[in-house]
Amino acid sequence: MAAQASLAPLRQQARAAGRAFGAAIRTDLLSDADYTRLFSTEAEILVPEWEGKWDTLQPTEAGFDLAPLRAITGFAQAHQQRVRGHALVWHNAMPPWLVARLAEGASTARALLEAHFNHVLPATRATIRDWDVVNEPIANPPGADNPQAGANPLRESPWFRALGPDYIEIALRWARALDPTLRLTINDYGIEEATPDADIKRERLLALLRRLLDRGAPLDALGIQAHLQLRRPFDPDRFGRFLSAVRDMGLAILVTELDVREADTLPPDLAARDAAVADRVRAFTTTAMQAGCRTIITWGLTDKHSWLTQDADVARRDGVLTRGLPFDSELQRKPMWHALAAAMG
Ligand code: XIL
Repeated sequence: MAAQASLAPLRQQARAAGRAFGAAIRTDLLSDADYTRLFSTEAEILVPEWEGKWDTLQPTEAGFDLAPLRAITGFAQAHQQRVRGHALVWHNAMPPWLVARLAEGASTARALLEAHFNHVLPATRATIRDWDVVNEPIANPPGADNPQAGANPLRESPWFRALGPDYIEIALRWARALDPTLRLTINDYGIEEATPDADIKRERLLALLRRLLDRGAPLDALGIQAHLQLRRPFDPDRFGRFLSAVRDMGLAILVTELDVREADTLPPDLAARDAAVADRVRAFTTTAMQAGCRTIITWGLTDKHSWLTQDADVARRDGVLTRGLPFDSELQRKPMWHALAAAMG
């Protein structure tokens, strides 16, 4: 392991290969020196895990608070890192006042969207050059093993209910009008694996992207969250065909939230568990790279501070801590780290 321990950080390895590695970071942990050292060393790109969401940025109407987001952009500037914005329009992390006001109808919704963008985009213009403008617009198919399924290909979020399907185009156009060189990204999940549900979500997403581009809506990139699950199969060819279709539309592809949920029945020991995670990450990341993706971002760096171990919706029911990120709870590199290095470096 001595030779492995001396390998350069992912930040350097990816950069040397003309690629970029990044990770989601949390302001509430910036006082932890081990945590911050890991992020400044390993990540070229930082994404605010919660600080760029509506309930943080505008907890009360017109009561903007960009301090947590600034803590991250400040950290990034101190360590010569870039920041991706996440996420301007999303059906989660909405403060209750916003949901109530959106129910008043289209003109209110449009004014609220514009006011939010008018405040946030100019304020972050110097430090954030890439935003998830719309997060998770695609509905899960009926009967899917995820909640919020529907026959409508677009998720019936409060934004959709107020503005109809046009809310996506409205958001993209307003972002472009405010900042013509900002990279505009649509970000979604459940489109990675070889399941019938994912096939449907991919079709729905391709149809949305095509419609937006046909209408001349400004859009630069597709973000693929990549919250992978080992209980689902992965087929590089099927995923690769989808990525080619996206690239053929002229869009860039980013992997934005990579992590891995382990199988329901775990392999016998830690080595076997970590090998299974690493194998999936290697296959997935290699396929993305081959399709021209140059940016891989993981949703955190260490299992010690991962939503997979801390969020009741996704944590394991058996109480076992998921080992779904490149560093373990002691902040040591795991086989997933080496898989990323091999695929990106
Ligand atoms: C998650 C955070 O990691 C959690 O801490 C929070 O409780 C809920 O949101 N898709 C996204 C991210 O786009 O914003 C989500 O982040 C994970 C799923």
